[in-house]
Amino acid sequence: MSRPKIITLPNSHLRNKSAKVHVIDESVIELVNNMQEATLEWEDSREHEVGVALAAVQLDNLVRVVVVRNNFDDKSDRTFQVFINPEITKLEGEIEKDYEGCLSIKDIYGKVPRHTKVRIKALNLDGKEVKVKAEGFLARVLQHEIDHINGIVFVDHIKNKQDAFYTLTPAGKLEPLNYEKEIKSSRILW
Ligand code: NI
Repeated sequence: MSRPKIITLPNSHLRNKSAKVHVIDESVIELVNNMQEATLEWEDSREHEVGVALAAVQLDNLVRVVVVRNNFDDKSDRTFQVFINPEITKLEGEIEKDYEGCLSIKDIYGKVPRHTKVRIKALNLDGKEVKVKAEGFLARVLQHEIDHINGIVFVDHIKNKQDAFYTLTPAGKLEPLNYEKEIKSSRILW
């Protein structure tokens, strides 16, 4: 069987809510493996980007499963942490804007406001409850992924912001996009 592919906007499934996992069976384990492989394959196909995390909806499987890279700074660490049914239990800290991208939104980056600290709870693959207290980039990634399982993509947070959209140049630099021309009436994003 061929592995599922990452879906991208304008696929409307990305704006649907994912369902809770009730039993962690073989199908969930296979899904998690596929998610990890798809993320690494995506990363391997790009020079300047890192595949940091993925939600199951991005493989068009609408269940509440998220995988997050264990090490954001070292690409040679290809291991992940798995979160089943993750929930935010507390949003803390300041709200900070920083760049975000998404494997399901081609070539567009955004400056998205997020809380700097977050607490989440979830199940691991063994069905045990795990709690994570995160800050900085990990806090941002967890908010982004939990948005995915609720049918929200990062561009939805900055929909009306004229100066929040960027693209990556072939040299790997972020460059502002023209909001009126390239974002406002995009048939891909909205
Ligand atoms: Ni994403």
